[in-house]
Amino acid sequence: MENKLIVANHKMNMTASEINEFLKELGKINNKNVVICPTSIYIPYFLKKKFQVGIQNTFIHEKGAYTGEVSPMQAKSLGVNYTILGHSERRMYLEESDTFINKKVLEALNYDLKPIICIGETLEERNMLKTDKILKRQVINALRDVAKIEEVIIAYEPIWAIGTGVVPTNKEIKATISYIKTIINGLYPNNKVKVLYGGSVTEKNIKELNKIKEVDGYLVGGASLKPQAFLNIIEVVDSQ
Ligand code: PGA
Repeated sequence: MENKLIVANHKMNMTASEINEFLKELGKINNKNVVICPTSIYIPYFLKKKFQVGIQNTFIHEKGAYTGEVSPMQAKSLGVNYTILGHSERRMYLEESDTFINKKVLEALNYDLKPIICIGETLEERNMLKTDKILKRQVINALRDVAKIEEVIIAYEPIWAIGTGVVPTNKEIKATISYIKTIINGLYPNNKVKVLYGGSVTEKNIKELNKIKEVDGYLVGGASLKPQAFLNIIEVVDSQ
């Protein structure tokens, strides 16, 4: 079985001095299956270590007059290998559409920056039994015109599980991840796309979650800000 990826999403957290403290404890991680995605201005602190580095967003063009944006070409030139795209917080607060996310995916792949594409349903959609329909739409639209499918990673993050401490049951996660893989297989037969789970992953529930063999890794938000909790998560995933 392939190794599981463990992706830390720091979101917009920590000051420069907190980052220094954080790195005193986590800088020693020696595991290329760990990808840390700090707030982008802190990326240089995380480079040249024995884990991988990702960025939390990248733009649809390689350069030019796009104030505030960072391009995949720029991220890659620094040594960044992953980019989180389509996170529900960006879909929600910045009104990112499926079409826009697809453009970001294609531009990232142009520079061999591996996109970690987030998909997931809201609580309302779940209650209305629309989860499958939403996920199918998000997957198909995100992957439109993608040629390098082997570089793509999908992260299933039910929006109602993000930062809430509520997680779906293992049975639900297994069914949903299998469904997502069926959709991807319909588009790209025999692909090896990793499908991660994200949403309130903690050091407390990781043992249980890690029993689901369909899950190819985790996207960890809140718990990745606490060094010991994150190290414990890595240890569980590595040892099981
Ligand atoms: P969480 O966030 O682990 O704090 O729920 C996950 C995410 O949004 O990627």
